[in-house]
Amino acid sequence: MEVVTRASEMKTLSCRVKESGDVLGFVPTMGYLHEGHLSLVRASRKECDITVVSVFVNPTQFGRGEDFDKYPRDVERDKAFLEKENVDILFIPEKTDIYPEDDIEYIEVDEKLTKTLCGASRPGHFKGVATVVAKLFDIVRPDKSYFGQKDAQQVVVIKNVVKNLSLPVEIKVMPTVREDDGLAMSSRNIYLSEDERSQAASLYKSLSTAKGLISRGNKSSEEIKRIITKILENEKNVKIDYVEIIENERFIPVDKIKDNTLVAIAAFVGNTRLIDNTIINGKNEE
Ligand code: PAJ
Repeated sequence: MEVVTRASEMKTLSCRVKESGDVLGFVPTMGYLHEGHLSLVRASRKECDITVVSVFVNPTQFGRGEDFDKYPRDVERDKAFLEKENVDILFIPEKTDIYPEDDIEYIEVDEKLTKTLCGASRPGHFKGVATVVAKLFDIVRPDKSYFGQKDAQQVVVIKNVVKNLSLPVEIKVMPTVREDDGLAMSSRNIYLSEDERSQAASLYKSLSTAKGLISRGNKSSEEIKRIITKILENEKNVKIDYVEIIENERFIPVDKIKDNTLVAIAAFVGNTRLIDNTIINGKNEE
């Protein structure tokens, strides 16, 4: 595995891959890798000739008072995982290669897609995500790029950026990888105490319960939201940020649950903010 730290070198390598006619797959990450990230890597390895993984804890997507400083970082650990997966190139850019100036030019993100869910709770977050991903695409020039359905709103925002800027990359969305008790894998799970860790499973439990009720004919968003809320409120350390039932892709709230409806939740477990979601009768249904 080649480890590249400069954008110029990464660009040269990408050009070489393109010239050879190989298909380039790209998995952008913020590191501290887990099986969720590795599922994206494996998909890329399967479908592409060359796989590039980036590790960059992007400062512009963290709000003031969020966990940028304490976000887990362990490059050696990440390298070992990626070597084992036979990744071709690990790109660990320097901050100045991504943001050469202190005054950053941001990509505008469609407000209709970001005024709800995580966009509402984390102002500016998706502007930072869209900007860094567009910059990484420009450097890596992938044919395909892999994202996790766990970050449902991120997927919709990135797809929208790709479409509106006519970027020549195909966005591939992979299902959420979970722990044995259903908790969605996340680099942030490491923040949880033992007690919080067991209570964190309630996020998945509430979504599974909702899904069961919906499949048995309960299509009322209001009722389903109420049931999810009750399950989460039963846990002493869980504080709900949002429970939303919306049309996937357009992000419009729905009263009656139908095909391709997204049930999305965010909650603080202790001080750790976790998210999870499920799509009802959608292509990515888990
Ligand atoms: P990060 O949180 O490191 O996630 C990198 C990718 O892994 C994202 O596409 C995310 O959706 C996916 N992922 C995380 N947990 C997953 C799980 N349990 N199952 C499947 N996929 C999972 O998302 C980011 O970084 C950043 O916002 C980034 C896109 C890199 C831009 O900075």
